Amino acid sequence: MKQKVLVTGGAGYIGSHTCVELIEAGYEVIVADNLSNSSEDSLDGVEKITGVRPSFEKLDLCDKDKVFDLFRKYPGIEAIIHFAALKAVGESVQIPLAYYHNNLESLINLLLAMSEFGEPGLVFSSSCTVYGQPDVLPVTEKAPIKKAESPYGNTKQICEEIIQDALKANNKLSSIALRYFNPIGAHKSAHIGELPLGVPQNLVPFVTQTAAGIREQLSVFGNDYDTPDGSAIRDYINVTDLAKAHVKAVERLIEKKSKHSFEVFNLGTGTGLSVLEIVNAFEKATGVKLNYKIVGRREGDIVKVWAETTHANEVLGWKAEVPLEETLLSAWEWEKRIRNID
Ligand code: NAD
Ligand code: WQD
Repeated sequence: MKQKVLVTGGAGYIGSHTCVELIEAGYEVIVADNLSNSSEDSLDGVEKITGVRPSFEKLDLCDKDKVFDLFRKYPGIEAIIHFAALKAVGESVQIPLAYYHNNLESLINLLLAMSEFGEPGLVFSSSCTVYGQPDVLPVTEKAPIKKAESPYGNTKQICEEIIQDALKANNKLSSIALRYFNPIGAHKSAHIGELPLGVPQNLVPFVTQTAAGIREQLSVFGNDYDTPDGSAIRDYINVTDLAKAHVKAVERLIEKKSKHSFEVFNLGTGTGLSVLEIVNAFEKATGVKLNYKIVGRREGDIVKVWAETTHANEVLGWKAEVPLEETLLSAWEWEKRIRNID
């Protein structure tokens, strides 16, 4: 019998890529998603890649009764990966209560269900945003958590605290929080990828939409930072690499490999790259010239951050592998496919 993994938000960007890796690793996957920021097309993509369609339950995780029904319908869930969340930083400033409600309530309901229906482990999608602008680079998991810059970032900090409190009160629960740096790219098959609604806020979707002619010009936000070329630096991690780390985390929880009930891992490449380096690498990888201009800094942006990945490498047994140019090419192949560009 295959081990069952519940993937909340599994129709979304990182969730769908993780479904692929879980299925390929031999797990039975159950997706719970309200499709507020995704569609079932991504599950078609998962099926095309793996030949297996995950079980799908359309539900809002803020509805506790529905969450409990889900655990009754699928007895014996061994691990949960909790991707479901609202994630737009700017929007979270406009509608903070929706963010606190959605991101906290969904987690609380899952933790309640975990206690009620056996004790599966929980993998939680956290973010490098919890570090703010770190004092020391690369940033380790031990770096202080800075005051959140946005309600979205605050939900990630609070969720990590909620999990730790729940674990203290029930020593059968265990959890791994994965702090993602900047996930980019698409599955190499181009059957699944990132589908931002409206104008993309993140760099790489804006780059691919500019290359596709949907956006006239990419604005590079600032070239007067204290960095080698003046543009801001991030750690861009391939989404399939990221997905594979979740399989490692699930294995670790199921096999109870850790002596600690709560663990945190940075998921990044360990290398910081500037916005202009990304622009150049995209042009080199795809042969497409990007129309871009330097504009002023974006409010709230941090200058530079990249991950110390030793903990993930040595303890989780995971390492980023896909080269940047391959990742950028995969983002472009996905954009071309969804826009019907040859
Ligand atoms: P996404 O929006 O593509 O996926 C999230 C999914 O959750 C969507 O399919 C959405 O419909 C679903 N969802 C949201 N609220 C729900 C609810 N109440 N009930 C059921 N389903 C719900 O986002 P993503 O980029 O795949 O991000 C996944 C997770 O990773 C999120 O928790 C996000 O905060 C975190 N994260 C993302 C990034 C990033 O840059 N993409 C970086 C760090 C952390
Ligand atoms: C990257 C760099 C921009 C768009 C966000 C969230 C963070 C986390 C990851 C979830 C920055 C520059 C961007 C553009 C640009 N998400 N840029 N022109 O800001 O590092 O992080 O996603 O947890 O919480 O804040 O990612 O892709 O928006 O920006 O010059 O049109 O690209 O200024 O330097 P960011 P990003």
